Amino acid sequence: MSEPLKVGIAGLGTVGGGVVKILQEHRDLLAKRCGRAIELAGVSALEMPDALKDTLAGVPWFDNALDMAKADGIDVVVELIGGSDGIAKTVVETALGAGKSVTTANKALIAHHGLALAKAAEANGGVLAFEAAVAGGIPILKAIRESLAANQLHTVYGILNGTCNYILTEMEQTGRDFADVLAEAQSLGYAEADPSFDVDGIDSAHKLAILTSLSFGCPMDFDGVYVEGIRNVTAQDIAFAAELGYRIKLLAITKRANGGVLQRVHPCMIKLDSPIASVHGVINAVVAEGDFVGRTVYEGAGAGERPTASAVVADLVDIARGISAPAFSVPVAELTDLPVQAMASHKGAFYLRLMVVDESGVLAKVSEMLRDEDVSIETVLQRGRAPGETVPLILVTHEAEEAAMARVLEKLTSMAEVVEDPALIRIEPL
Ligand SMILES: NC(=O)c1ccc[n+]([C@@H]2O[C@H](COP(=O)([O-])OP(=O)(O)OC[C@H]3O[C@@H](n4cnc5c(N)ncnc54)[C@H](OP(=O)(O)O)[C@@H]3O)[C@@H](O)[C@H]2O)c1
Repeated sequence: MSEPLKVGIAGLGTVGGGVVKILQEHRDLLAKRCGRAIELAGVSALEMPDALKDTLAGVPWFDNALDMAKADGIDVVVELIGGSDGIAKTVVETALGAGKSVTTANKALIAHHGLALAKAAEANGGVLAFEAAVAGGIPILKAIRESLAANQLHTVYGILNGTCNYILTEMEQTGRDFADVLAEAQSLGYAEADPSFDVDGIDSAHKLAILTSLSFGCPMDFDGVYVEGIRNVTAQDIAFAAELGYRIKLLAITKRANGGVLQRVHPCMIKLDSPIASVHGVINAVVAEGDFVGRTVYEGAGAGERPTASAVVADLVDIARGISAPAFSVPVAELTDLPVQAMASHKGAFYLRLMVVDESGVLAKVSEMLRDEDVSIETVLQRGRAPGETVPLILVTHEAEEAAMARVLEKLTSMAEVVEDPALIRIEPL
């Protein structure tokens, strides 16, 4: 057998702990598969977790992860600290600068600095790998970079945040509202104490920016992602969606359009027979569509100790086997700019919920506003009658321009009979 691959892990939390477990439990299996051992040659964290003390006895400890990133005798640094900047970034830069390879699960770091880091890896002969950064245990980056390499991909979309999918699933199954389900998700450990990265769509946007670059061979553009989270989705919208034959999911969608690319993250209504409508709870799913292969669908655990660690160790196996492909499918210098398409250029059907005063003439006024912007109505739903009181008025439009809908919303907001901000959810024909 060849020399062992010597690995140093920075960060021994949820994912770091999982990586330690796999390297220990599957030591022999991994050695056989790689033709060489994967040896833990260093660890660093703020404190040694009690649960890992025995397992890690004898493994060199580094008080400072930066020392480990530079240390002789470490071939690969596994960055599992987190955060787009600060120590995580410095550790990765230092390791790559020293000619080592790096694997990380850190989507925030890759979404913001991935290209510069990939360039550093190319310049110094190391590998930068980040399979775990997108959709946790689902091997979607490898599938896109390698297995679908014969294709021009045109559309990639998915459920990339398990916390949001869990919340939407619970809301649908129990009829409870967002705040209530979020509080429960926090108490169960499915949502962070500060849930904003997840529920405001930022985590999905990080992952989408990475997917776009890998799929279309363009530089990453996190700021070019249109982002809307799930805070405004109500139990009422979920019930109306069901009545109309749809389910609401937070989707991340990247599409080649008009010679450019449109990247967006927002709640969507999708038909119940869409390939990802039945992906429930914390599970993630990704659909990648290519010109030769057609539609391919991937589903699995998008987070958690074991699935995420599985993806990190898969990167280590590739490095141990000497398999490496450019981090973003092509060398960084070969990435080609694609003009960012503004969200205003998007066209689609829309669900609109208006809380209106139940009196005659309101529907006529609303219809007129839509007609003035060339938006035609496919369906109108109004449940119950309560003269003089507030009732929901649901409208589903035919395909319309986003920019026109934005103007409609502005006018509706200033209409006296509309007593709350209108709720708008895009309908995706996926
Ligand atoms: N958890 C998941 O399911 C999941 C899924 C996909 C991707 N990720 C990504 O994986 C990364 C790690 O996530 P996690 O959930 O494992 O985080 P975590 O449980 O919070 O673990 C972070 C670890 O980093 C250590 N750390 C903090 N500052 C450090 C420093 N200056 N030097 C060395 N170590 C330091 C922490 O030590 P102390 O514990 O002593 O503070 C802890 O061991 C993040 O980028 C995250 O986005 C996580």
